[in-house]
Amino acid sequence: MRIKAFSRKIFCLAVTMLIVNAVSVAQSDESIWSGVFTAQQAARGAADYSTNCASCHSVDLRGNSNTPSLLGMSFMFIWEGRSLGELYTKMRDEMPSDRPGGLSTRSYEDLLAYLLQSNQFPAGEKELKASTGMLDKISITSKP
Ligand code: HEC
Repeated sequence: MRIKAFSRKIFCLAVTMLIVNAVSVAQSDESIWSGVFTAQQAARGAADYSTNCASCHSVDLRGNSNTPSLLGMSFMFIWEGRSLGELYTKMRDEMPSDRPGGLSTRSYEDLLAYLLQSNQFPAGEKELKASTGMLDKISITSKP
């Protein structure tokens, strides 16, 4: 009798651990549609954009004959299937093109958040951070 109760406890514990495990796996499986930046971060990015990027990419992000649009179909045509890490690296290493790498890490993170928000990706609870390595794991996809 006692042994039975004991093994039932072990069984329950094992099931609980399985569930906890499944939940944490689901949470670490981040997608660009799960909210990978905050609205506040995107708002900071908007300010950085108007100071550092709008002169070339235009105020509405649509670019002009010399500079590509950062919005919608033109954006997805270039970036769909690639990772946020690639986009971040492109911005950090090459933009603003007149002084590449000239901004702080935080500014580049905020600018990425702003670009995502402008392309209708949802905001969430956690700020986007380049240092965690998360950006390489998240790919830019159209809504499933
Ligand atoms: C002096 C003009 C200029 C400034 C300022 C500038 N850009 Fe650019 N940007 C360009 C040009 C020209 C290209 C296209 C050539 C290339 O991809 O390197 C480009 C390309 C890009 C691309 C890749 C677009 C694509 O779809 O291929 C991104 C993203 C980008 N810029 C973001 C930014 C951000 C963010 C800022 C502000 C920090 C910024 N740029 C400031 C001129 C500029």
